[in-house]
Amino acid sequence: MTIQISPSLLSADFADLGGAARSVPGADWLHVDVMDNHFVPNLTIGLPVVEALAKTVTQPLDCHLMIDDPDRWAPAYAEAGAASVTFHVEAARAPVRLARELHAAGARAGIALRPATPVEPYAELLPELDLLLVMTVEPGFGGQQFLDLCLPKIRRARELVAASGAQVWLQVDGGVSSETIGRCAEAGADVFVAGSAVFGAEDPDAAVTGLRELAHAACEH
Ligand code: DX5
Ligand code: ZN
Repeated sequence: MTIQISPSLLSADFADLGGAARSVPGADWLHVDVMDNHFVPNLTIGLPVVEALAKTVTQPLDCHLMIDDPDRWAPAYAEAGAASVTFHVEAARAPVRLARELHAAGARAGIALRPATPVEPYAELLPELDLLLVMTVEPGFGGQQFLDLCLPKIRRARELVAASGAQVWLQVDGGVSSETIGRCAEAGADVFVAGSAVFGAEDPDAAVTGLRELAHAACEH
């Protein structure tokens, strides 16, 4: 299993997103949290900023859409240059059609699950997907406390991915830090989003390296 770290720009300086990207050269991805003030009670950045970032940064963009009506809006993020687009299943009307549209636009496709959303109903969709995001906080804000109650779902998701035989990455997002990343890796996650643990650190790139090492160590057990 390849460990990947996706620092979340939500905890970076919004007036200097290019600088934030350059501060984490060792990151596999840059996680971009798109919030619409409807699906979640917060408003962040949208299409024009994603478009500008895609032209500027060297890391591929991992867009996490916390928006209503992703069926309508998500493909534009792929067309804007996001290498991976993840939408919430709670908001999607036709997740299979949407995943296919994202693929047709050249992006990887992911679905995200809020903490109260079970993974089992989506097992049959896995062959259509590249990524399954198990949220480990209620989406909407950075810097929240990791919810240990999500760990059994990560384990179950890993079992379902293995049983499907599909090449689906299992991402965790929310409260991922040096204290919690080992538990996520041990439960089966392989892509780790971290906002405050990376951009709140004095040396963000060293934080990425540290998180990667802790995840590797937990997988070896
Ligand atoms: C929360 C976002 C996360 C957030 C994580 O809704 O999806 O990506 O940036 O921030 P931390 O790592 O600080 O919990
Ligand atoms: Zn996110």
